[in-house]
Amino acid sequence: MAILEKHAILEKNVTLLAIFAFLVVTIGGLVQIVPLFYLENTIEDVEGMRPYTPLELAGREVYIREGCYVCHSQMIRPMRDEVERYGHYSLAAESQYDHPFQWGSKRTGPDLARLGGRYSNEWHIDHLRDPQSVVPESVMPKYGFLEQKMIDGKYIGDLMKTNRLVGVPYTDDMIANAQADFTAQADPDSDYDGLLERYGEKVNVSNFDAQAGISEADALVAYLQMLGTLVDFSTFTPDASR
Ligand code: HEC
Repeated sequence: MAILEKHAILEKNVTLLAIFAFLVVTIGGLVQIVPLFYLENTIEDVEGMRPYTPLELAGREVYIREGCYVCHSQMIRPMRDEVERYGHYSLAAESQYDHPFQWGSKRTGPDLARLGGRYSNEWHIDHLRDPQSVVPESVMPKYGFLEQKMIDGKYIGDLMKTNRLVGVPYTDDMIANAQADFTAQADPDSDYDGLLERYGEKVNVSNFDAQAGISEADALVAYLQMLGTLVDFSTFTPDASR
């Protein structure tokens, strides 16, 4: 009974109750959160995940700059309606090289986490130029100007170095060849063997916007066509031991 009587003191004194409640929540929070900082396997390594190619990374920058995340999420929740519409739910590992992540919080348009390969490059270019021409009821703005803005990938090596600082495993080889790989991915007539060697056979090499030179639209579509395609879900099994 003595302990209950002591507790009665807490129940009758709001300030004391607040202080003790704060202490309990703090300790509980630390116990839950701190171990995550020390566990190597907080993020399960998943086969197929690789750092973005220089062209995809440049496209991701355009995606962020244009605020695509304001209307599009990149996070499929493990609920039946989402999985049936968009495909396998998103894994933490699929955002592991995203700084910052692009989960988004609003879906004015559909989720884009598994967009890669769903449409042709031509469809994407038409849709960016004039969304209403392919989806008449669309409220998405026009992004045709991206095709006119040429980019040369001069600074992409620096951006990769910055990403490496925060943990993306770009190798020295990848950084040294950044600009060459950037150009090669947008030109199927080029020698892109080095690109595939560094980033894997599945890298999508194409003249995405079908015009000479590399535009921001090339980079953006290269990025969009890669989304959600890195992990092969026909062979993926969640690791239950973690
Ligand atoms: C004002 C909100 C808005 C913004 C900003 C926006 N979108 Fe959209 N987007 C939509 C809507 C609504 C749709 C659905 C209709 C359609 O397909 O056009 C859509 C559809 C899409 C689709 C087709 C997805 C699918 O699965 O059918 C892609 C791809 C896309 N947007 C890419 C982008 C990119 C890239 C950007 C940034 C350059 C962007 N969107 C910016 C609203 C937006």
